[in-house]
Amino acid sequence: MSGNETSRIPGFYKLSPDERVKALQDAGADIALAPWRDEGLRLQDADLMVENVIGTFSLPNAVAVNFCIDGADRLVPMVVEEPSVVAAVSNMARLARRSGGFVTESSSDIMIGQLQLTNVQAPAEAVSKLEAARDELLAQAATIHPRLVARGGGMRGIDVRHVVYDEPGYPREDMVVLHIHLDCVDAMGANMVNTVVEHLAPLVEGITGEQVGLKILSNLADKRLAKATVRIDPKYLSTATLKGTEVAERIASAWRFAWADPYRAATHNKGVMNGIDAVALATGNDWRAIEAGAHAWCARDGHYRPMTTWRFDGDMLVGSIELPVQFGTVGGTIRVHPTVQANLALLGAEKANDLARVAVAVGLAQNLGALKALATEGIQAGHMRMHARTVAATAGATTAEVPRVAMALCAKRDYSVAYAERVLGELRGG
Ligand code: MEV
Repeated sequence: MSGNETSRIPGFYKLSPDERVKALQDAGADIALAPWRDEGLRLQDADLMVENVIGTFSLPNAVAVNFCIDGADRLVPMVVEEPSVVAAVSNMARLARRSGGFVTESSSDIMIGQLQLTNVQAPAEAVSKLEAARDELLAQAATIHPRLVARGGGMRGIDVRHVVYDEPGYPREDMVVLHIHLDCVDAMGANMVNTVVEHLAPLVEGITGEQVGLKILSNLADKRLAKATVRIDPKYLSTATLKGTEVAERIASAWRFAWADPYRAATHNKGVMNGIDAVALATGNDWRAIEAGAHAWCARDGHYRPMTTWRFDGDMLVGSIELPVQFGTVGGTIRVHPTVQANLALLGAEKANDLARVAVAVGLAQNLGALKALATEGIQAGHMRMHARTVAATAGATTAEVPRVAMALCAKRDYSVAYAERVLGELRGG
């Protein structure tokens, strides 16, 4: 979005897909329908991307509305197959904007590359040699991506670590690991980092006299953090049967459960990633890298923790999230995929760290939606309302028939295709 648009489109969910695109245009989004309707990724491009291609694969491309992030309205494209995810996040974005929306920040676009020295007999010595050669290593690394330097990125530093494999019952191995810090600007950067570490290996072996093992980036991108916070006035959380303050306390309690119990934290975090992965997919990003980094980050104190926090500041419920999010807006699939380009244009994200900040805000909103549902009516009611539509369609209902069949399934709480077929038969006068 370029500035004058609004993400607040009441009744968006009630429209047909074509009407939604029109509503986005009316809201000021400079978009055309074609990229979401045409073939999308062309077969010849897909065939160049990976091996053994026989076709392409589609998923729903939705838009989350109502987001206000750092004072600006944002329409957020999401690619996801799970019902309720987009509805929940849009509802929570609407709720959040009443208390000012999301506030975000990011650290840098620095990715880490690792060079491992294996089976090192004198680790302290190898560490000192590498530290003493810092300038030479940085100078050599700086020559590898001259265009990156021109774009404002490049080498930012190195770190040397002594890492020990000391699993009880097995022989100890000392390793020395050199980290390089590469500012990848708007690229996710995996290829750039891997090129640097591979290129540096002979020099590192020469400096230390040790053998280099693995040379690869680390997905624990803890120099590329994005953070979002939101302040929720509990009065907006009230339901038909519960006061907002009670719901807010239940949400904070649900978060404490996730902090204390990794079994719950895993599910809590899955809900966060429902949002972040959907943005990653829509924007052509490597969601496995993002997942790996996010989960590793959550275990940084030695215990697997939730990705978010929900605590009270006075009367306000305050949510926050901080994650390593390795997003790119250039390179890889992004360049060749027309739907990805359209999604990035709709979101108005040109900078990788802008995209990362939107993604964590979405993850935080998604988490609020899940916790609010779990703390009140439970997750199944909303989920089954959406699921009923899929069941109705599976039973053969037309687009016009789906809402009535779905309503009948919800009323009886019977979501079987057989029952949907019966309802459909009755509807058609059978
Ligand atoms: C389902 O996809 C995600 C949830 O399980 C997340 C959560 O439990 O917090 C609802």
